[in-house]
Amino acid sequence: MDKFIIEGGERLKGKVRISGSKNAVLPALAATLLQRGKYSIGNVPRLMDVTTMMQLLDLLGARCVWRDEHTIDIDTTGVENHVAPYELVKKMRASVLALGALIGGLRKATVSYPGGCAIGERPIDLHLKGLSALGCDVAIREGYVDVTAKKLKGARIVFDSVTVGGTENLLMAAVFAKGETLIENAAREPEVVDLARMLKKMGARIEGEGTAVIRILGVGELNPCAWDVIEDRIEAGTFLAACGMTRGSIVLENCVPEHIKAVIDKLTETGMEIHCDGRTIKASMSKRRPLAVDIRTVPYPGFPTDMQAQLMASMTTSKGVSAITETIFENRMMHAAELRRMGADIRVVGNTAIVHGVESISGAKVMATDLRASASLIIAGLAAYGKTEVSRIYHIDRGYERIEEKLKNLGARIERVKDENMGA
Ligand code: EPZ
Repeated sequence: MDKFIIEGGERLKGKVRISGSKNAVLPALAATLLQRGKYSIGNVPRLMDVTTMMQLLDLLGARCVWRDEHTIDIDTTGVENHVAPYELVKKMRASVLALGALIGGLRKATVSYPGGCAIGERPIDLHLKGLSALGCDVAIREGYVDVTAKKLKGARIVFDSVTVGGTENLLMAAVFAKGETLIENAAREPEVVDLARMLKKMGARIEGEGTAVIRILGVGELNPCAWDVIEDRIEAGTFLAACGMTRGSIVLENCVPEHIKAVIDKLTETGMEIHCDGRTIKASMSKRRPLAVDIRTVPYPGFPTDMQAQLMASMTTSKGVSAITETIFENRMMHAAELRRMGADIRVVGNTAIVHGVESISGAKVMATDLRASASLIIAGLAAYGKTEVSRIYHIDRGYERIEEKLKNLGARIERVKDENMGA
């Protein structure tokens, strides 16, 4: 296993190009199971999760080949297998996105019931309720979800709570459902919109994507397509948070400011100067310490849960007291304990963290627990006095492309080394 060694104190300066979105490319890859044929997916980030999804597609009978650094050619002509096995689903729960695509493409799917993960139980009850509404027979046996659909019929589906994956799965399952399907209380995330646009390019009849009500009219078949996914708004937000924490001045290229408006507004409240111009964001933090702000994570277009850990790091050296409330996942505060080991003053009460800003934090040996917690610890290490060692950075490799290279190019002192204490 690897770890990062970070020497804190450098202000980030320079330009960084944002990669394609992990949370857009995973549903896009799954969507190629809807219709046999040849696809090419572009703007794909080089991430562990992408490799895992390609392994799943290969296992189902597809052929995935990297055409160049960021483009994958996929041929799903040979897809016959409808089983997504435990070994793959436990590595990446987003494999559950194969459910909707296999139901749409093969009318049957057997997917290992995704277990929870560090940040929460992550049930899929809303996905399954929606599939049943479309006429699917759903059975759970021996740790697998077995779904079959003799025929798919349009239905009105109202989600009890907003679910990104649930909306994406139902979008894919409904494209062939006879008649009209309404998905109400649908997720509005840009990644959901990107999937809908890809499906429309394939010939699906969808409207309302990006709003709380999405309407799908069933079609007989779709056409494979070429599709470039959107940029990763969470990577962009992560670099903005790192810029603020190190009092730096950076330019983000190839991003969509609109997709992180809530994050930009919040960071502006802390005293960052942020200017957006087309696909470029210029950010700088001249103030010595950010002002404390309160944060409450909610579904898009509100403040994203995937940026909560990164902003908590920023608030550790703020002027004032910040209340950070996580409303989406039940266990997404594990980074607080590791930040405390760096001298942060954080008290977690239920799903709210109270952060009293301190003058400075100091480097320490810390351990990543999940993807965004890893980013939070790296951000803290960049600003801490002395050396920080972040172990278990396989978490970060799942969701950030070449992060240490990008940070080094911005002046950070960060090295990836073998972690002799953690075995191979
Ligand atoms: C997606 O996960 C993202 N992952 C997550 O990003 C992101 O945090 C999340 O959406 C929320 O924005 C991908 O897109 C691959 P949900 P997803 O279904 O779809 C509960 C990252 O760091 N729920 O919107 O799994 C669920 O437990 C990852 O990149 C049910 O109760 O999230 C959670 O509390 C982490 N029943 C809440 O809803 C269901 O059937 C939101 O989950 C489905 C969800």
